[in-house]
Amino acid sequence: MLAIEVKGLTRKYDDVVAVDQLSFDVAAGEIFGFLGPNGAGKTTTIKMLTGQLRPTNGTATVCGFDVVTQRQQLKPAIGVVFEYQNIYERMTAVENLRFSARLYGVNGNRVKEVLTQVGLQDQKRKKSAKFSNGMKQRLLIARALLHQPRVLFLDEPTRGLDPGVARDIRAIVQNLKTQGVTVFLTTHYMEEADKLCDRVAILHNGRIAALDKPNNLKQNIDQANATLEDVFLALTGYSLAGGSVPS
Ligand SMILES: Nc1ncnc2c1ncn2[C@@H]1O[C@H](COP(=O)(O)OP(=O)(O)OP(=O)(O)O)[C@@H](O)[C@H]1O
Ligand SMILES: [Mg+2]
Repeated sequence: MLAIEVKGLTRKYDDVVAVDQLSFDVAAGEIFGFLGPNGAGKTTTIKMLTGQLRPTNGTATVCGFDVVTQRQQLKPAIGVVFEYQNIYERMTAVENLRFSARLYGVNGNRVKEVLTQVGLQDQKRKKSAKFSNGMKQRLLIARALLHQPRVLFLDEPTRGLDPGVARDIRAIVQNLKTQGVTVFLTTHYMEEADKLCDRVAILHNGRIAALDKPNNLKQNIDQANATLEDVFLALTGYSLAGGSVPS
């Protein structure tokens, strides 16, 4: 079954074509990495797939729901974590989650479950204003999981986090996969994408330059022992010897 189906998806901002006729599928239960340089169109794509931004052209479904015409059905099926999202700083972790649970009509028992799932149970009474970036990110993920979404979108979930917390976040994602949740994530950390993702798409100037399992991508470039970073740099206009080349 397909969790995400994208056909000719396009988004223009005035003259800028941010996302240019993307077509791809994500299978249910997959961890799908969406990679690409700054400005490649990753966040714009997530906004369209989560019903927050209207495509200029093309169509997309998530869990079978059209992202434009079926937004009401789409919402309960998905969870989203963006970097700029807010938490109520004057509330503790548990208060934040109880508040969101009430707001979304989710059973209060879920609060304890998601706190455990993201490893915040011992710090649940701490005021969110005192949270480190890592704790804040855990709380945002917990909040996105309250209603048990079938597809979770994570925009740069490990950005700015120390290696230990980043590893914890990856473990949370892997654990979600074992529960059958589909995860669509962006990251600038190629090793992370390599370790975590079943398949990755490399986006460049709003278009998919490559899409495959990390190992296949590494084998398909003309360089011995290539890393995913080598693949990324080769496909996005950098010479392997270093420095950028005109595209
Ligand atoms: N609200 C907006 N108005 C105008 N242009 C925008 C807007 N949002 C994004 N863009 C442009 O669309 C393109 C894609 O941006 P987007 O934020 O989707 O990239 P990204 O891949 O998420 O980049 P990053 O890795 O830096 O987060 C860029 O050229 C960006 O400047
Ligand atoms: Mg972005």
